[in-house]
Amino acid sequence: ATLGEPWSGFVGQVQDQLAQATTGRLILMALVNLPIIAIVINVLRQLLPQDKTKPPMIFHWIPVFGSAAAYGQDPIKFFLDCREKYGNVFSFILLGRRVTVALGPDGNNFVMGGKHTQLCAEDAYTHLTTPVFGKDVVYDCPNEMLMEQKKFVKFGLRNDNFRAYVDMIEDEVHKFMNNDINFRAYQMNDINEWGSFDVLHTMSEITILTAARTLQGKEVRSLIDKSFAQVYMDLDGGFTPLHWLFPWLPLDSYRKRDAAHKKMSQLYQDIIRKRREDPSGEEEHDMIASLMNQHYRSGKILQDHEIAHIMIALLMAGQHTSSATGSWILLHLADRPDVCEELYEEQVKNFLQPDGTWRPMQHEEIRSLPVLDRIIRETLRMHPPIHSIMRKARTDIPVPPSLAAPSESGSYVVPKGDIVFSSAAVSQVDPLLWRNSFEWDPARWTDPEGIAQQAYKQYDDENGQKVDFGFGLVSKGTESPYQPFGAGRHRCIGEQFAYLQLGTIVVTLVRKLEFKMNTPVPAPNYQTLIILPQNPRNILYRRRKFD
Ligand code: HEM
Repeated sequence: ATLGEPWSGFVGQVQDQLAQATTGRLILMALVNLPIIAIVINVLRQLLPQDKTKPPMIFHWIPVFGSAAAYGQDPIKFFLDCREKYGNVFSFILLGRRVTVALGPDGNNFVMGGKHTQLCAEDAYTHLTTPVFGKDVVYDCPNEMLMEQKKFVKFGLRNDNFRAYVDMIEDEVHKFMNNDINFRAYQMNDINEWGSFDVLHTMSEITILTAARTLQGKEVRSLIDKSFAQVYMDLDGGFTPLHWLFPWLPLDSYRKRDAAHKKMSQLYQDIIRKRREDPSGEEEHDMIASLMNQHYRSGKILQDHEIAHIMIALLMAGQHTSSATGSWILLHLADRPDVCEELYEEQVKNFLQPDGTWRPMQHEEIRSLPVLDRIIRETLRMHPPIHSIMRKARTDIPVPPSLAAPSESGSYVVPKGDIVFSSAAVSQVDPLLWRNSFEWDPARWTDPEGIAQQAYKQYDDENGQKVDFGFGLVSKGTESPYQPFGAGRHRCIGEQFAYLQLGTIVVTLVRKLEFKMNTPVPAPNYQTLIILPQNPRNILYRRRKFD
């Protein structure tokens, strides 16, 4: 029987709805299953035979995301685990990017000693640094220009400037101890009273105050408790792993970063303009004064905005590296009161005068105080602030077989476009190279057996191979397992200043205070650009009997 008109209309509607529902369900199913399908395809692709010339890829379940969780959580453990399976050279996916890692002294040499036309720092860093530092400096200019800028800065980091700095730093630390609320127990002048402070919080404040007083100059120092602090914090909020991974997101931190950069750049340019307008002021020992007289080899004078942006770069380069290192030093001294006492005794022996006052410390003396030197050196071994040094491959780059080779003949090639990492943070704690490598033991530096062979050679060999990349002679050291300040053409130029600043801060505190802590030294937090101690990170202190 045929259906009547109303019925056939009804059936048609039902059929349409069924068809729509089926399409909808199919779409829904596809959407639900898409990630699963993507994961399956991703896994199958990894199980297929791979291109043998490329370094082995670390297995990962989720496409694009790759090994981001394992790397972000603990890069040192991730690298050591990967090395166990794949050797010194391997690749992994980090949020859509291909990263190739080269480990060990040979890996350090491959990356730090590589040609800058092949392994390029500016391509790896500029999207993070240029919005913060500004135009025309560091990684926003050709490498040759950066080398000249480093030469200008090195000129400002010279001995006659340093001479004035020790007293200034001591003075800032004393003022801080006399005024900061966390030093109440010290201010009470009661030697039985224990107080406590968060090391990172305290070291961050002391580091910026002392850097402002010395390198940054008196105008910045006078602004530091006022407008400068907020601008600095907004700028700093734009200097995180998120900003490296995603240079432009519509988030508040990005907008604040950009606004803060404009203000900070203007602030420095105003200082420079005022100094130019009134050149009769007293002679300054700071970096602005040094940069104002510099010009490129081409004859072009350093522009005001370039000086301003170099100053911002120096502020950012020194602040977290030094405050993190200072924090780890204090934590380890509190954990090892015996070493702290050794350091105090070294101060007493060298600087305490018969009348009970301290003889002024000369900056040249800081590197020649063996206990202090070993403490800083050992802390930088275990806690180098930067765990991944980055470059970008501009060409395909063959990996030397001595570093890593596939089991068949031939060599690996790092493909053009890869981000390439080296990690002194791994080679500096490599159990294959260092005795009790995860133990903080400053005494290892007095014992050739305690430290890695190549590191000892470099430590012992003042006259080792030196190279000039355009900013003065530096020891080559690219193949050393110990390189907290990097190596090669991008080597740090702030090392002398950092030793001066850290050394003076630490001994000024140790002359006045005893430390202890009732908890173990906290684990590192790798979620920030610079490796910091995790919370809680308080240490206990009390005033010394004789200070
Ligand atoms: C470069 C570490 C303090 C200025 C570097 C590099 C490292 C490093 C590892 C090499 C980066 C790379 O190759 O990609 C440290 C540590 C410090 C410290 C551990 C303190 C404990 C400072 C200070 C300043 C500074 C105080 C400035 C006054 C620079 C500059 C570069 C650099 C200008 C050169 C960047 C380049 O050529 O690409 N630092 N740094 N650093 N650092 Fe430092």
